[in-house]
Amino acid sequence: MSRISQNIIDRVRDSSDIVDVVSQYVDLKQKGPNFFGLCPFHDEKTPSFSVAPGKQIYYCFGCNAGGNVFSFLMDYQQIPFPDAVKLLADRYNIPITVEKDNEANDLFSSLYMLHEIALDLYQENLFSSSGKESLAYLLDRGLSIDMIKQFKIGYAKNSWDQLTKRCKGNGFTKAQILQSGLFTETKNGILDRFRSRIMFPIFHPSGKAIAFGGRIFDNDDNAKYLNSPETPLYKKSNVFYGLQATRDSIRKEGYVILVEGYMDFLKLYQNDIHPVLSVSGTAFTSKHAIAISRLTKKIILLYDGDKAGGNAVIRAGWILLKSGLIPSVVRPPNGLDPDDWISKNGKNSVMDSINNSIDFMDYHLDFNDGLSLSGANRQKYLENLAREIKVIDNGVIRNDIVKSLSQKLSVDERDFIRLVNTQRVNLPRNLGNDSEIKDDILFSSKIEKAQIELLKLLINDNSSIREYVIDRIELSLFKSPLLCKLAKILMDEDLNVESSSIIEYFQDKQERDSITKILFSKNQSGEIEEIVSDCLIILKSNPIKEKIYQLRAKIREKESNGENPMQELNAITELREKLNDLKN
Ligand code: UTP
Ligand code: MN
Repeated sequence: MSRISQNIIDRVRDSSDIVDVVSQYVDLKQKGPNFFGLCPFHDEKTPSFSVAPGKQIYYCFGCNAGGNVFSFLMDYQQIPFPDAVKLLADRYNIPITVEKDNEANDLFSSLYMLHEIALDLYQENLFSSSGKESLAYLLDRGLSIDMIKQFKIGYAKNSWDQLTKRCKGNGFTKAQILQSGLFTETKNGILDRFRSRIMFPIFHPSGKAIAFGGRIFDNDDNAKYLNSPETPLYKKSNVFYGLQATRDSIRKEGYVILVEGYMDFLKLYQNDIHPVLSVSGTAFTSKHAIAISRLTKKIILLYDGDKAGGNAVIRAGWILLKSGLIPSVVRPPNGLDPDDWISKNGKNSVMDSINNSIDFMDYHLDFNDGLSLSGANRQKYLENLAREIKVIDNGVIRNDIVKSLSQKLSVDERDFIRLVNTQRVNLPRNLGNDSEIKDDILFSSKIEKAQIELLKLLINDNSSIREYVIDRIELSLFKSPLLCKLAKILMDEDLNVESSSIIEYFQDKQERDSITKILFSKNQSGEIEEIVSDCLIILKSNPIKEKIYQLRAKIREKESNGENPMQELNAITELREKLNDLKN
């Protein structure tokens, strides 16, 4: 299909102004050459988010988020790169031209198109004569026509091939059709996956449909809800139902209410309770937590009032705590779900409870009867708590929990800490998801710092400094892969790349943040020659020291075997001389 050509991307970046773009969302005040404001990517009271108009980049000293105009919009609006480019092109009146592209983008646009077709068809059905009963059902459940239209709810008829026929003749390949998740392949050919179901489309934050949840209607299929499978567009572990509609309210209100079902979400939203999201049909994962943390730290879990809902609250609560978020809990009365609760008791009753949500740990104690347990049951309960607490990385959160739990449960705090520390940690429940989460990339060793010092000189405003440095270094000095990649870009481009465009070489967010931190640094002052020679000594001597270290081990080994380590001793002497030469 198509992609935006590089020279348009360059033009859009160069025409945009980072201060102008960020100011649309963040109050910025100028201090010296840079601007400062409250970081939109984490919760803070004093501004550590800074924008450098000279370099056209931003960096937060609080949470390390950094990047250029494109990455700002991508992270803030949660939109993909091309959408960020288009948004800015629009703002600066730059016409977008596209060029032919590879199959991957072709696949994505085809999948979007297939969902667009399905979205239209299901909505058409709902408002046609064949959808009469399904529409009546939705209205009877209390949804308004406006809500149905806003959330593009539809109806899949009891037909094996209505959507299949609609998509035929549009040039989709079989692979695209099958990867959309909208069809199933049987021995009778390709058929519609969703039949006789009320269709809830799931949207990407950009507003494009990426999946569906279908509620059984007028049929005795045994799955009440059938959801799209995972597809290239739809990764269940971090998608929420409703995000496209409630993102701004969540930011504005500073909290989010998390519900389990489509109908729960819709009923709260219709009753003007807007900061809400639904996990809809998947377990809550740490990726969900990360996605939420970009919007708010305060999560109110409003799950179904039954026992299953109560257990799911506990699982989600721990995951939230482990991600550094603050969960609290609201329980619907009499085992109701939020949808029924608001229909029966009205929105004020629900809102009152939301305003008085209970702390997650208090809920945990209450749900498990923690305060009245004794003997072996109490011991088991304490160990269960300790195991979960042990894997909370955030020390402040962990200590607060330990403190308050030992008080409430009348356990000596030191005993409780010991219990926590001696727990053997289970493998994370969803290793597949959690193992991908990397910590911030910290460059803390002497060697890494030396590489960074040199990189900073390579982006110095003063071109004679840049040239002085590049004449004295070589790529092999950069042993850290990420830093080597940056060095290579700078050296390949003969130091002529702008900070703001370097950022686009790094698509991984953590990498981008770390690189921005380096790009954001001030010009070094002082004796450049000295800085360079110090760094070179560190970087060149390190491999020599490593070799000496290895030789020493070898010598010890030989000595204990009664062999003569003469050769190794000589080698060490030579290396020592090399080390000395470096310093002179
Ligand atoms: P519930 O069974 O509580 O359904 O599942 P509900 O939301 O109250 O549905 P109504 O009110 O009967 O229409 C809660 C959520 O769990 C997911 C759906 O997202 C549902 O909204 N779910 C449930 C599934 O994905 N599959 C199922 O078979 C059941
Ligand atoms: Mn329900």
